Amino acid sequence: METLIKKVDEKSVKEAKDILTGGGVVAIPTETVYGLAAVGTNSQAVKKIFEIKGRPSDNPLIAHVHKDYDLNKLVTVKHDYVYDLIKAYTPGPLTMVFESKGVICKEATCGGDTLAVRIPSHVGCQQLLKAIDMPLVAPSANLSKHTSPVTAKHVYDDLSGQIPLILDGGKCSGGIESTVLDVTGKTPRILRAGLITKEMIEAVVGCCGIAEHKEGDKVKSPGVKYKHYRPHCKTALYTREQIKEILDKYNEEIAVGGKPYIMCANDVAENFLEKNLLLLGSTPEQIASNLYDKLLEGEKKSTLIIAVAMPDESGVYMGIMNRLRKSCG
Ligand code: TXA
Ligand code: MG
Repeated sequence: METLIKKVDEKSVKEAKDILTGGGVVAIPTETVYGLAAVGTNSQAVKKIFEIKGRPSDNPLIAHVHKDYDLNKLVTVKHDYVYDLIKAYTPGPLTMVFESKGVICKEATCGGDTLAVRIPSHVGCQQLLKAIDMPLVAPSANLSKHTSPVTAKHVYDDLSGQIPLILDGGKCSGGIESTVLDVTGKTPRILRAGLITKEMIEAVVGCCGIAEHKEGDKVKSPGVKYKHYRPHCKTALYTREQIKEILDKYNEEIAVGGKPYIMCANDVAENFLEKNLLLLGSTPEQIASNLYDKLLEGEKKSTLIIAVAMPDESGVYMGIMNRLRKSCG
């Protein structure tokens, strides 16, 4: 199968819509990472997503809807704070897990009684969702375990030959996957950290928990137990205090004929003068936005990515550190 990359416009959106309503899958841009989409009510189409990615069959998918879509068609909203969160942070990188009404096929929810729903803000993605007016389920458009794609080219590198169309909506601005929030209980609970931070949720709801992922939990985020986001080269992760260890590791790799790169925030780069660097930027938002792009750049030109941790785990850094541990730890 030939895989075409087409800029998002009226014509390509129409083509994507036709493929999707015909039971096919299409890669789509969102403001977080690219998604591999199928119509959420079509079991056969949804099965294709799992096959193409090599995704474990117990890891459910997120349903994406346009901003005027009536959520009550898909899920039961039990708590009023949900409407405050919708008002404050959607469309945007916030996924909420509700009690499902069973409209989305069981292949997508993996037979569970909950459904994760997200309203993406990416203009091209909204355009497609509006045109199709049905929920599209979509995991990140990478092969299972690999780093999530933030450009159409990244998707092509993983999935060319397996899908007919990649809608190109430019580089994703957010850069890490959405925050996944369990809203089935009286207090919302973060299942996966992202750009909508614990602090931002607390500011609206007054409180916000973080899931510890214990066995027997009613709502778990199965995805968090898998190895994830890993680039194809070797990796290592160090704290910002381990400058000597980082330089030793770097030199060891050079000594065996390798090509190491140090991936770090701009403020620690001065410790690594004249070394190969993958610079992530200065603010937490810049760092999130560049993280996967730099990992995917690094795996192409380097034998070892030496990642340097963030200063702490507050705000957006929580989501970044979660990805860094899984990709490089
Ligand atoms: O930003 C994003 O969320 C991207 C873009 C494409 O929208 N999508 C994405 O999908 O990251 P995926 O499949 O790579 O990750 C979905 C996460 C997984 O950790 C999964 O376990 C969790 O959401 N999830 C999905 N449905 C769930 C449910 N019903 N209950 C708990 N966790 C769920
Ligand atoms: Mg993923």
